[in-house]
Amino acid sequence: MMAGVPLEELRAKALQEVEQAPGLEDLRRVEQEVLGRRSPLTLAHRSLGSLPLDERRDAGARINQVRSEIQEAIEGKRRALEEAERAARLEADRLDLTEVLATWGPGHLHLVTQTRDELEDVFVGMGFAVAEGPEVETDWYNFEALNYPPAHPARAAQDSFYLKVGEPEQVLLRTHTSPMQVRLLLTSELPIYAVMPGRCYRRETADARHRPAFHQIEALVVDRGITFADLAGTIEEFTEAYFGPGIASRLRPGSFPFTEPSGEYEVTCTICRGRGCRTCSGTGWIELGGCGMVDPAVFGNVGIDAEEWSGFAFGFGIDRLVQVRHGLSDMRVLQENDIRFLRQF
Ligand code: DAH
Repeated sequence: MMAGVPLEELRAKALQEVEQAPGLEDLRRVEQEVLGRRSPLTLAHRSLGSLPLDERRDAGARINQVRSEIQEAIEGKRRALEEAERAARLEADRLDLTEVLATWGPGHLHLVTQTRDELEDVFVGMGFAVAEGPEVETDWYNFEALNYPPAHPARAAQDSFYLKVGEPEQVLLRTHTSPMQVRLLLTSELPIYAVMPGRCYRRETADARHRPAFHQIEALVVDRGITFADLAGTIEEFTEAYFGPGIASRLRPGSFPFTEPSGEYEVTCTICRGRGCRTCSGTGWIELGGCGMVDPAVFGNVGIDAEEWSGFAFGFGIDRLVQVRHGLSDMRVLQENDIRFLRQF
C-alpha cells in the first residue's frame, strides 16, 4: 500500500512497541514514533491525496481506524504504567511501623509490678488474703489512728505530700501502707491474715536507695494468742520463699508508734555480699522494712479488745526487695524507663 509499508504490519509493530514500553517516559517516545508528525502512519495519511477518490476514502477510513486503535492501546498502557508507578512510590514511602516491635519484642509488666504479683503469690501460699486501699489518705488513718501523736517527730521523718483539700495538713498522699492496717481493723471480721501492697509517697530526693514514689507491702495478722515468735517465723519463711537460700536476714530492735515491741528487718547486701559498699552505706545490710506486735493503743483506737486479741504487722519496701533480689546498685533504674534495663526482666 502507501509508502510501501503494509498497514497491517505498521499496526502490529506499533501495538507491540506500546505493549513493551517499560515506563511512562518510554511510552511517550513510542507515541511520538508511531503517531507523531513524522510517523509512518501520518505519512501514509498525508499520501492519501495521491490516490484515486474511491480508494482514498477506504484507505483513509482504515488508517483512522488503526490510529484510534493504537491511541486506545497507548491510553490503556499509560493507565497501567501510572498505576504501577504509584504503587511503587507508595511501597517506597511506606513507614515500617513494625520496626520497634521487631527490635524490642512485645512489652511486659514492669519489674516492680512483677515483683508485687510474686510477693502476693508467696503470701497467698501462706494463707494470707490480699487487700488494696487508697493512695490519698487522711491524717487520721496515716498517723493518728496509728498512734503518732500530733507533732511527733516520726511525722516529720515521713516528709509528707499534703493536698490542698479541707483543713490544712489533713489530707495527704499516704507515706506508708500502714493506714491499711487501720482500714482492715475497722472493716474486717477477726481473725485477720492479710497483705496490702501499694504505692506510697514521701517528699525526698531519689538516690541509690530511695524514690519519692515507692511501693510497700504491708502485712497484718490478728488472732487469739499471736506472739512475736509467729512474726519472726513468718518473716523467716517469707525470706526463704522469696530470696531462696544464700540470703541472710536479721531483726534488729526498732521503734514505731504503732508496734510494741518493734523490729527492723534487714538482709545481707547483695551488692557487696556484706563487706560494705555505697549501696548499703558501708553496713553490709540493707533495711527492707519494719515490723512488730500491734500496739494495744492501735487496738484501742479501732475498738478491738487487746485482752482477747493480739497481732503482728510488718511493712516492706517492694522496690528495696527488687533491689536486693536483682543486685541493683542504684534504685533509680526502676523509674528511668530505660528499655535496655526493663527488657532484661
Ligand atoms: N510503716 C513503716 C514505714 O513505712 C514500716 C512498718 C514498721 C510497717 C512496722 C509495719 C510495722 O507494719 O509493724 O516506715
